[in-house]
Amino acid sequence: MPGHFITLEGIEGVGKTTNLNYVRAWLEARGHEVVVTREPGGTPLAEQIRELLLTPREEAVSDMTELLLVFAARAQHLHMLIEPALARGAWVLCDRFTDATFAYQGAGRERDAAPIAVLEELVQGLRRPDLTLLLDLPVEVGLARAKARGKPDRIEGEKAAFFERVRASYLARAQQEPDRICVIDAEPPLAQVQKSIDLALERLERA
Ligand code: TMP
Repeated sequence: MPGHFITLEGIEGVGKTTNLNYVRAWLEARGHEVVVTREPGGTPLAEQIRELLLTPREEAVSDMTELLLVFAARAQHLHMLIEPALARGAWVLCDRFTDATFAYQGAGRERDAAPIAVLEELVQGLRRPDLTLLLDLPVEVGLARAKARGKPDRIEGEKAAFFERVRASYLARAQQEPDRICVIDAEPPLAQVQKSIDLALERLERA
């Protein structure tokens, strides 16, 4: 039986890492093989591309360079890790995927989504997540939490207006694809957040 592909999305500071660990434990407790990974990254080469993308640098990075690096990393990650894991029946749990590209390189950078859709088709073919958990928080709350973690990377250093566009794009995508993208309000206490996650996972397990 082919595996399942779950992604976690959201702006900085929404609690992706905590909830990713929760989802991993939930799936493992049910006896599933779980492969936890992240984007950009997930293989040695893709992790090197991540460094290139996220390290603050003096040279300005063009929006197109950023977009192509994201998809270069994704092509490697899909080919070397995600597709083989799904083919052997594992559940792949990925911290961010292409919804982040539409949100950050598209809406955040105020760029047309059409080239992103072209690259999505080229790199992924028909591969899309089976379930995306979109952790949602007001931007000021997320950014305050992220700030407490320390020095921002090249993208985290963007202004609040950038993250407002990112958040709006995520929510708009969730409205367009309500069967795949489950919006989780990340503001209530963790136990309540995780109850919403349970419901989404149970639905997917039954499907
Ligand atoms: P992380 O801090 O959640 O690991 O994410 C790394 C950064 O990469 C985050 O600021 C969002 C950014 N990113 C993009 O800009 N486009 C993408 O397609 C992905 C996957 C991440």
